[in-house]
Amino acid sequence: MTKSRVEDLAILGGASAFDERLHVGRPNIGDRRALLARINDMLDRLWLTNNGPFVQEFERRVADFLGVRHCIAMCNATVALEIAARALELHGEVIVPSFTFVATAHALQWQEITPVFCDVDPATHNLDPARVEAMITPRTTGIMGVHVWGRPCAIEALNEIAGRRGLKLIFDAAHAFGNSYKGRMIGNFGLAEVFSFHATKFFNTFEGGAVVTNDDELATKIRLMTNFGFAGYDKVIYVGTNGKMSEISAAMGLTGLESLDEFIAANRLNCATYRAGLQAVPGIKLIAYNETERNNYQYVIVEVDEMATGISRDDLVRVLHAENVLARRYFYPGCHEMEPYRSYFPHAGLLLPETEKLTQRVMSLPTGTAVGPEEIETICAVIRLAVENSQELLRRLAAIRETQHI
Ligand SMILES: Cc1ncc(COP(=O)(O)O)c(C=O)c1O
Repeated sequence: MTKSRVEDLAILGGASAFDERLHVGRPNIGDRRALLARINDMLDRLWLTNNGPFVQEFERRVADFLGVRHCIAMCNATVALEIAARALELHGEVIVPSFTFVATAHALQWQEITPVFCDVDPATHNLDPARVEAMITPRTTGIMGVHVWGRPCAIEALNEIAGRRGLKLIFDAAHAFGNSYKGRMIGNFGLAEVFSFHATKFFNTFEGGAVVTNDDELATKIRLMTNFGFAGYDKVIYVGTNGKMSEISAAMGLTGLESLDEFIAANRLNCATYRAGLQAVPGIKLIAYNETERNNYQYVIVEVDEMATGISRDDLVRVLHAENVLARRYFYPGCHEMEPYRSYFPHAGLLLPETEKLTQRVMSLPTGTAVGPEEIETICAVIRLAVENSQELLRRLAAIRETQHI
């Protein structure tokens, strides 16, 4: 139901626009019958994990799709980042954005590598290369860029800095599967790149991730570290861990790969529908993807400029939640405001003015194959209604809050 009067908003007592909750990242399943057939094969084979045939096929298909020499499938992207960082012998300090999911920083801290938070470019939401240079100290060994929302980092500038300063460059490409930079697929940049195939990603293996690289030696080392460091039945040559992807995850991945174009087409249509529905709303800016590149369009990200909307991002999120639209404040707060970083670096925010602004402005809206144009038009109508009537809405909300306090 499209709402047209401010009093119809659920936060003011109207009925919710949706009976069921709409999530930012509902899983895409692909062809269920193909998945179940694969699971049956797997059960018949009694080969459930340890580099089974589905994992091997999945790795080959992903590597071919990306045009990269090696893909090492893993149980999730966090472990993949940890293993990649360890295989690259990162230590001391590594420069990362604070405007990212906390796993980027944790993957380093978990190995007692200090994540040094660097500010981002407000135009791209990605590491600002000009600021990276200023964060380098004698202890710095690497840079971990994040392709936030799947939009590529300033890859050339980061490469140039890493090369000139003798640092190792890797990318957290958790959001960027299927995207390209200057016509080359993400996965081919830096010394290694890491994807996430978590259930909330547009392409998933339930839980899962992968390190991809064009470096043969690094690939061998990462593969061994993913399997406890075993280089033969009884021979261990590295400190390793268990990062292996299971067969059922690879079965899901192979099935999802067959529907990848469909998932992307749905995301793309959703983005276009949001764009049309929100383009005339003052203070609401949808981030854009570079249409000359391949994009997965998996995130619908809005920046809310309160000066123009008259309503804050946080109040807008409340309005949407009341309608059963579970918009999320991604990324909020910045990693530097989370523990243990908040205690370790209490003044980090002073060097992160753009990050601080973005964490107050950005929200992510529901998309994926579970949401279609009809729902999106209703969501846009709610946002338009809230912004067009922001003063009246805030007045009524204040009155409700006052009554509740009494
Ligand atoms: C930027 C980023 N890095 C890392 C991760 C961790 O991925 P996983 O959940 O597969 O461990 C995520 C997950 O959402 C992410 O968004």
